[in-house]
Amino acid sequence: MTSILVVGGAGYIGSHMVKLLLGRHFDVTVLDNLSSGHRDAVVGGCFVQADLEDKIALDNLFAENQFAAVMHFASCIEVGESVERPGKYYQNNVANTLSLLNTMVVHKVKHFIFSSTAAIFGQPEYTPIDENHPKKPINPYGKSKLMVEQMLEDFDHAHGLKSVCLRYFNAAGADPEGQLGERHNPETHLIPLVLQAASRRRKQIYIYGSDYETEDGTCVRDYIHISDLCDAHLLALAYLRENQQSNQFNLGNGNGFSVREVIDKTSQVTQKNFEVVDSERRQGDPAVLVADAKKASEVLGWQAKFNQLEKIIEHAWQWELNHNWPN
Ligand code: UFG
Repeated sequence: MTSILVVGGAGYIGSHMVKLLLGRHFDVTVLDNLSSGHRDAVVGGCFVQADLEDKIALDNLFAENQFAAVMHFASCIEVGESVERPGKYYQNNVANTLSLLNTMVVHKVKHFIFSSTAAIFGQPEYTPIDENHPKKPINPYGKSKLMVEQMLEDFDHAHGLKSVCLRYFNAAGADPEGQLGERHNPETHLIPLVLQAASRRRKQIYIYGSDYETEDGTCVRDYIHISDLCDAHLLALAYLRENQQSNQFNLGNGNGFSVREVIDKTSQVTQKNFEVVDSERRQGDPAVLVADAKKASEVLGWQAKFNQLEKIIEHAWQWELNHNWPN
C-alpha cells in the first residue's frame, strides 16, 4: 500500500482528502497539531498530534514510516490576520514548511503536494487568471505561500524533490455524503457565513463592499467544490509518480459569482430568508478573482464534478443542518 503523510489532515480540506485517500486504499498518516483542526474530522488512518515546529517528532515520524509522498494542508489562512501578525504567517507557513521539506530531504521522500492559493497573484492584471499571471501578492498570507513555491523550485534543483503546487481559488462546499464539512473558528468565508445566517446561528450577513467595478457592485469569486479540489490532489499524486516532474496549477471552475449572487442562491437552496446588511469594503479584497484552470484539465485530466454553485451550497447546507454545533 502506498503510504501518504497528510499534514493538516484534521482541517477542512485535509480531512476531506484523508477520506478520499482512504477510499482509494492508500495508507494514510495524519500529522496535525489540532490548533484549528478537529480530531473527529480524521475519519481513519493513523493520527499523530504534533507540531511542525517539533523537529524531533517530525524526524521520528519519517524514520518510522516510508512515505511515498507528503500532502501539506497545514497553514494559517486569514488574510486580515496575516497583515496584523505577519510573524505568525512566516513562522507557520514558511519556516515550518521549510522544516518539513528539510526532513523530507533527509529521509529521501521525493514527492510533495502543496496547498497554494490565488492570493499569490495579488491584484489581478487580467482575468481569468492563468499560471503565467504575474505573482505579486499584496499581503503576508499570499507572500508566505509564494515563498514556499519559490523554495520548492530550489529544492527540486538541489535535491530532486518534486512538487505540485495547487493554487486554490475559493474552496467551498462539503463532503457530498455529509460526514465532513467546514468548521473554522472564527469563520471568515462567505458561504459558511451565509449558511449560518440561513440557519439562524448568525443574525445577519454583511456584504463587504457594494461599490466594486462589477455588475452588481459586489466582489466576484470562483468557488470550487472541496471534492473537486481533493480529486485534483489525487491526480497530482499520479502526475508526480508518472512524470517525476514539478508543476503548478490554478484550480477553479472559471465561473465567477458575486457576493450578492451567492447570497441569493443560498436563499433559494435553503428556502430561508435572512437579513443582509451592506457594509464597508474589507481590506485587501480584489474585485474579481476567477481561475483559468485549462492547464489542470489538459495536463492532469482534471474535471470538476460539482461545478454548479447550487451543489456547492447544497452540500455545505447539509453539513450546516446536520452538524452538532457548536464545536
Ligand atoms: N464576504 C462578504 N461578507 C462576509 C464574508 C465575505 O461580503 O461575511 C466577501 C468577501 O469580501 C469576498 C467574498 O465574500 O469578496 C469571498 O470572501 P471569502 O472570505 O469567502 O474568500 P476570499 O475570496 O477572501 O478568500 C480567498 C481564499 C484565500 C485567498 C483569497 C485571496 O480563501 O485563500 O481568496 O484574495 F487568500
